[in-house]
Order: sequence, then structure tokens, then C-alpha cells
Amino acid sequence: MSYLLGIDIGTSGTKTVLFNTNGMTIASATKEYLLQQPHIGWAEQNPEDWWKAVCHTIQSVLTKSGISSKEIKGIGLSGQMHGLVLLDKNNRILRPSILWCDQRTDQECIEITQKVGQEKLLEITANPALTGFTASKIMWVKKNEPSIYEKIAHILLPKDYIRLMLTGNYATEVSDASGTQLLDVKKRNWSQEILGILEIDSQWLPKVYESQEISGTIIKQAAEDTGLLKGTPVVGGGGDQAAGAIGNGIVESGIVSSTIGTSGVVFAYTDEMIVDPKGRIHTFCHAIPNTWHVMGVTQGAGLSLKWFRDQFCSQEKEVAQLMDVDPYVLMTQQAEQALPGCQGLLYLPYLMGERTPHLDPYARGVFFGLSAKHTKREMIRSIMEGVTYSLQDCLNIIEELKIEVNKVRVSGGGAKSSLWRQIQSDVFQKEVVTINASEGPAFGAALLAGVGTGVYKSVKEGCQATIKEIQHQFPEKEKGNIYEHYYSIYRKLYQDLKETFSLL
Ligand code: XUL
Repeated sequence: MSYLLGIDIGTSGTKTVLFNTNGMTIASATKEYLLQQPHIGWAEQNPEDWWKAVCHTIQSVLTKSGISSKEIKGIGLSGQMHGLVLLDKNNRILRPSILWCDQRTDQECIEITQKVGQEKLLEITANPALTGFTASKIMWVKKNEPSIYEKIAHILLPKDYIRLMLTGNYATEVSDASGTQLLDVKKRNWSQEILGILEIDSQWLPKVYESQEISGTIIKQAAEDTGLLKGTPVVGGGGDQAAGAIGNGIVESGIVSSTIGTSGVVFAYTDEMIVDPKGRIHTFCHAIPNTWHVMGVTQGAGLSLKWFRDQFCSQEKEVAQLMDVDPYVLMTQQAEQALPGCQGLLYLPYLMGERTPHLDPYARGVFFGLSAKHTKREMIRSIMEGVTYSLQDCLNIIEELKIEVNKVRVSGGGAKSSLWRQIQSDVFQKEVVTINASEGPAFGAALLAGVGTGVYKSVKEGCQATIKEIQHQFPEKEKGNIYEHYYSIYRKLYQDLKETFSLL
């Protein structure tokens, strides 16, 4: 039998999953790690924690499945995008990684825009300068930590640091590299022009592969650390969003995905490069050669509910433990008892600033319209509704760019809740569908490994062979009308609060 391994280096933890070539999950393991927030708006992690989690989860998957590592045909990597990993010439980690949700680089974004020019940025990198992206993080280190900056020999993205540990190669692939703001997104390679203007040494950057290409093989040390077989091929893989989209079968026009993980993402495939002239959604290379994608990002999607769970739901957590269920199940049961629209309670999910559509690192979370009548039920449901309004903002821009949206495939932790899926269907007024494959980015990465090692002829063929639609939920017009009313207030609230946020 042949197997494929997908490894996803996420923000809350690393997930490693072993699949057979029919796409069935054979064994899965997750290991969580900490997110450090030394100041408000900062977010850092230690790359060594990722590597420990990778070793632990691979060993665990091999033990659980009982298969021999010889039977693993190929490995695909996926991971949180944009994070900055800095190494010196001996591959020593120079500082904690600055993550995608870190908002410290507002000033550097202004400087990048001044140096490069807004038009050229959109033309070459397909995106405006954003705090989440990698380039501004490099500029921040240059200005604030010069003694670290002068030791830089290698710059890597999170999953590509793991690739270095597994294969000894400095390599990345087009989908993740698109989120650095240093890639010529049309030409699918580093932009020497941008690097020149920002005075970033091109020698520091890894080689760029297509996502399905083999980027290296497992080295002896990694084989000892993980239990994998030396020589097993590792393909490019993808940023978590592109890999997740492959795992959801978003490989043709008309079907878009909506994923509620820590962040929330609405993702659409495109045959050509389409750029929002206002830069409100991202345009990146897709993990299929010669194709691109657009996506809108809500910074604090699942994060909002997790924050509420951890701060206000200790009772639910205790009961859930006794009942051996997930605390979110109990929280959802409460939300089900609240009315759609939560009787005028609205939530803005801007806990970590916001990308789509506001591009505003200073935005902050808000409960609006609280009255003495409201209970925890409405607060939980309003978080689900507010996150969905934010995803509707993303969908609006995608449709404004004339990208076809016939139905929405939902995934991520948020899609486990039938209530949250129905809220999505009612707010979007679209059919919402779940699929058989629930492992998201890890599955997409494994499919890419299957293409790179000849198991499937193409990504599309791999998706057709393994992905099936399972549950369909349809929009209800009456609820849609209620949500439409509150969505218009939700939209107005940001405009009303924008200036006040920046005073904070
Ligand atoms: C995408 C993005 C997030 C991270 C973490 O642009 O920043 O989705 O990849 O999941």
C-alpha cells in the first residue's frame, strides 16, 4: 500500500495526517504550542516549538497507523503564512518568528508604499503593503533590531523552516511566497526590483518551486528525529490557505470556500491574475501551475469564539470535560436559543485589527447594542454572526470583481457547527456545502505530494479521485432579511468608529 503525509504548521498547533491514496485518513496527530503576545497587537512563536511538534506528531502518526515509513510515497508541507523566520549563517534562529497576525508594522507599510509606490506594488506583488505580510516585518527588524538584522543569512516562512529541518534545503513555493510581498506574483518568482528598492539581499531568500514540485528529500538527521525514511520526497506544498483550498477542491471557477479557523478566509480560484484595484482582498499564486487565487481575510474569526470561550466560558469547559464533549458544542447549544440578529446585539470581530475590507491594524473588537435583556446566548451567537458578516464583506468584493460564486464549500473548526453553517448560508444567501475531507491544509498538502510523486496526474485529478460533497444547506429568505438589516448596521459601525479606534 502507498501513503501520503500532510503536515500543517498552524498557529494553534501542528497537525500531521497520514492518508491512503484514496484520500482516507489513516492516522492523525496534533500538538499545540503557545502564541506569545509581548505587547498588544504583537504575535510571536518559537520555530523550535514547531519542529518539536512536527517530530512528535510524525512519530505519533507512524505509531498509531502501524505502517512502515517505507510505504510513505511523499510528504507535503503547509503552514501559517507570512511569518518571518530569521536564521544566521549557521542556521541559528535569530529571534522569535513574527507571525501573520502581528500588527506592529504599520509605519513600515507606509514606508514601503512610499519607496515602491502603490501602483508598482499592486502591479508586481498584486497587493498593497500590509502589516500581516513578511516584507514589513523585515523592515521592522532592520529599524528596531539592527544587531539582529546584520546577522541575517536566511529568511524563511514557517513551513519552509520545517522543510529546512527535514531536507536541509532552503526552499519555498509560489503560494506561500506570494504572501511575502517580495514575489512577482505574475512571473511566480522573486522580484529583483522590489528586493532592490527595499535593499533586501536576494541571497537570503530560498529557491521558489511550484507547489507540486519535489523540493528535497528527508535527510539522515530528520529521519532519526521523526522516524521517516531517509530519501522520502518532500514537495513544495502550500500556504495554509492555498493548501486548504486544494483540500476543499477549490480548483475550478464557481465554487468558493469559506474557512473559519483562527482567521476566516473566503477563497476563490482564478485562471488569470485578478487584482482588486483598491487592494482590499489578496491576490496570490494558487498551488496549481499557471493559476491564481483571490482571498479575503478576517483576522479574528475562530479566534473570536476561542477568546470568548477562554475568558467567559470556564463553566462550559468544566461541564464539557465531564461530558467528554467539546466546549464549543455547549456554547453552540446556547447560541441556538438566541434569535437570529440577537435582538440587536452586534459583534465586530476586529480583535487583531482587520484586513478585508478595512486594512486597518488599529480596528478593535466591539459588542454593540448590549441591553439588560441580553444574555450569554446572544453574546455567543452575535460572535458567530459578526464573523459571518465579515466573511460577507470578503464575498462582496469577490463578486464585485466579477468572479463567479455559485456555492460555498465550508471548512475549518467553524464548519463543525451546523448552526454556524446555516448562519453562513442565510447571510450569504447561497448554498453551503461540506465535503468528506475534513483535514483541510494537511490534506491539500498530501494531495500535492501525490501529484509530485506521480500518484495523481494533476491536482484536479487528485481532487476528483478523493473529494465528495456531503451535506448541503440552503438559505432561508426570512432569516436572510433579518441578517441583511443588521449587516447594514454592522457596515456602518466600522465607518463610525474608525477614527475613534485610532485614538485608542
Ligand atoms: C492568510 C493568513 C492566515 C494565516 C494563518 O493570508 O494570514 O490565513 O495563514 O492561518
